[in-house]
Amino acid sequence: MQYSSKYIIGFAAAVCLVCAIFVAGLAVALKPQQELNKVLDRKEKVLQVAGLLEDGIEKPAAEIQALFDENIRARFVELASGEVLTEAQLTERGIDPANFDPRKYLTEHGQDVEKNPAGVPEIPDVAQIYEVMRGESVSAIILPVHGKGLWSTMYGYIALADDGNTVKGLTFYEHGETPGLGGEVDNPIWKGLWPGRQVYNDEGEPEIMVIKGQAGAPEVDPYAVDGLSGATITGRGVGYLLRFWLGEKGFKPYIENFRKGGAS
Ligand SMILES: Cc1cc2nc3c(=O)[nH]c(=O)nc-3n(C[C@H](O)[C@H](O)[C@H](O)COP(=O)(O)O)c2cc1C
Repeated sequence: MQYSSKYIIGFAAAVCLVCAIFVAGLAVALKPQQELNKVLDRKEKVLQVAGLLEDGIEKPAAEIQALFDENIRARFVELASGEVLTEAQLTERGIDPANFDPRKYLTEHGQDVEKNPAGVPEIPDVAQIYEVMRGESVSAIILPVHGKGLWSTMYGYIALADDGNTVKGLTFYEHGETPGLGGEVDNPIWKGLWPGRQVYNDEGEPEIMVIKGQAGAPEVDPYAVDGLSGATITGRGVGYLLRFWLGEKGFKPYIENFRKGGAS
């Protein structure tokens, strides 16, 4: 049996249409689940950087949620003043703590900053941070950081001990660096070099840096971390982005308040 060209084109178009509707429907239907997974992944990273969850160990979602709820308190900080905002102040600014999306907030409320080595073009007025609770007191703070690597913007968290200076952990949850090179920012062995380092020097300026080559132990080389071999640019990017977010335009005012015991 011979089909006409019209029939073949029509049939192919109909198959394409059905498939397109199916794929689009699936994408829409799965979007809420994807968003939930993303939120859960961030919580997992926060717990890991706080040292409350081991890297690479799979845990059921309910367990991660429970661990997060038991130990972590989300706070909102006004970057310029370093003040922690009250619920009333959040409402005034139209911020819903339960559904806060830092990227969306930055897109809508970003303010341009001077060109900087971290490649951060704009900052928000308010950022969400996390406190690690030990009873009623804060045992560590977790700050969101981001900045340019070689190929991409890298997004992560740094955890600082209650002195506001000693690193407890560093992790990246999103980047587009090359696997095996810049992508080694994810490597647990490299991340293991961070705890115990100091971020601020005696003058209170952020001094932490990823160097080319090997650094000594934290007691000897408190402000330096080994470079990633074959990925000097990504490593340097990590150093610059930390210096940026720990600096005056970032969380320095908040950390100073926190050290004085006034931020929370
Ligand atoms: C395919 C390819 C991928 C690369 N990916 C990265 C990367 O993710 N991060 C990085 O810093 N350098 C990367 N580099 C290397 C840089 O181009 C540059 O040579 C390097 O950062 C210099 O670091 P080194 O002095 O440690 O060799 C890549 C190079 C190639 C050819």
